[in-house]
Amino acid sequence: MIRIVKTTPYKDQKMGTAGLRKKTQTAMQENYIENFLQSIFNTIPNLEEKSFLVGGDGRFYNKTAIQKIIKIAIGNNVKKLYIAKDGLVSTPAGSAIILKNKLSGGFVLSASHNPGGINGDFGIKYATSSGGQCQPDESLAIQEQALNITEYKIADCDDFDLSTITSYTQENTSIEIIDPYIDYIKLMESIFDFDKLKSLFKSNFRFVFDAMNGVTGPYGKKIFEEILGAPKGTVVNSIPLEDFGGLHPDPNLIYAKDLVNLMYSETAPDFAAANDGDGDRNMILGKKFFVSPSDCLAILTDNYKLIPAYKNGIYGVAKSAATSMAVKRVADTLNINYYEVPTGWKYFINLMDSNRISFCGEESFGTGASHIREKDGIWATLFWLSIIAEKRTSVKEIALSHWKKYGRNYYLRNDYENIPQDIADKLMADLEASLPSLINKEFKGYIVSDAHPFVYNDPVDKTSTKNGLIIHFKDGSRIVYRLSGTGTSGATLRTYIECYETTNLLEDPEVMLKDLSEVSRLISYITSRTGKTKPDIIT
Ligand code: G1P
Ligand code: ZN
Repeated sequence: MIRIVKTTPYKDQKMGTAGLRKKTQTAMQENYIENFLQSIFNTIPNLEEKSFLVGGDGRFYNKTAIQKIIKIAIGNNVKKLYIAKDGLVSTPAGSAIILKNKLSGGFVLSASHNPGGINGDFGIKYATSSGGQCQPDESLAIQEQALNITEYKIADCDDFDLSTITSYTQENTSIEIIDPYIDYIKLMESIFDFDKLKSLFKSNFRFVFDAMNGVTGPYGKKIFEEILGAPKGTVVNSIPLEDFGGLHPDPNLIYAKDLVNLMYSETAPDFAAANDGDGDRNMILGKKFFVSPSDCLAILTDNYKLIPAYKNGIYGVAKSAATSMAVKRVADTLNINYYEVPTGWKYFINLMDSNRISFCGEESFGTGASHIREKDGIWATLFWLSIIAEKRTSVKEIALSHWKKYGRNYYLRNDYENIPQDIADKLMADLEASLPSLINKEFKGYIVSDAHPFVYNDPVDKTSTKNGLIIHFKDGSRIVYRLSGTGTSGATLRTYIECYETTNLLEDPEVMLKDLSEVSRLISYITSRTGKTKPDIIT
């Protein structure tokens, strides 16, 4: 039986950089998930012809939310649901499943790299038939529905068992419980030379993959250990846990601490990678060496010919404006397309769909390619393994030879967290207004050459998006300012700082960018407005 339930809107159901992201207890409020799902379905015509994927990264409240989503979908006469077995699917595998099965979209329940548990965060990433997250105009249409919702439709039925591969029919909806690994693994096999990788693992090469108690544990075990022959135990923190075992499942130098400590110790293996909760982000480490995500994109692009799927050429590459300029140097040299887009993977989708780019990346530990429409942590790891298998040299050597060829863009992201929203908004508005007056001014020896808001004109659907403010200096250094769109408490101001060096290649970025970080605070009055004399987080 289908019930129509009266409801009232939640005013905070707005989508940010990566879908809906909330404190878990916010999402647990009565009708919260129901309202949001109904709002999405209200924007999709002919649901009786549409099929969707449902799964998540295994965090707390996923199981409850998945059952709700199934019942709302039945209530809305959806044709078919593909439910990941045990409710587990990584964001990249979800994208692969949507594309391979030509689904109308999918729901990946994840707050990505944010902590989980009842006191952590919860999220819903809504993907369309593109295989990637919905576009800004679609988010607005959903938001409009959510702010005006009065009722939702839900099936009155028992919960579904998600632990076995089987299928059910309820009302007009068929429900298939699917293996969430197989399509993704086949896709990886079609891109990389698995035999070559197997031979790497037959040598005495040592690798650690940290799944951070998120969803890539089972993917990593299957791919690295079972298929490629890496020793058992190569994948650590491999069982998806509802609270990520208390970890903050964000693969960076701060939160992947154990892995970083291992890689900087005397017993470090040759290579390590970590993925975030839902498997789209990655961090790459060598022995006593960290590869910044901006450099990672540049190095992968420079080495595209080593990978079977790309050896005949790639269309081009794109990065978010906040990411360093390193990859542009590679694109210019290779003479391939180059684009700079706002922050958020969704902006790469049109470029990939129109064959303008093949690779893309963000400074926030995201790298990926057009095999799917999300960033892909395991893909990045397999790419690095392939480079190592070919060059048989260390990660540090690979990065150093890249910098010798192209120069090095030293880069830092400084985050100022938990700023009252009105103060953060005013800081950005005042800074924007002051940009023209900064030109030709000098700050600690850095002279401003240009300063403007970052405006992106999408070449495909011709929309313009404003995202952040950019200040260029005469020596090629840059500072980018923007407010985070994924936070769940207060505002986070991010400043992205870089300079370019051709000779001094092995310095500490914090040393190289000390003055410019200071300049970033001076120009925008961060300290007097927020009371913060230094960033809360430096990555
Ligand atoms: C952050 C990152 C951005 C990424 C997003 C989702 O968004 O900066 O690159 O796409 O998470 O993983 P932000 O909080 O900056 O809006
Ligand atoms: Zn993620």
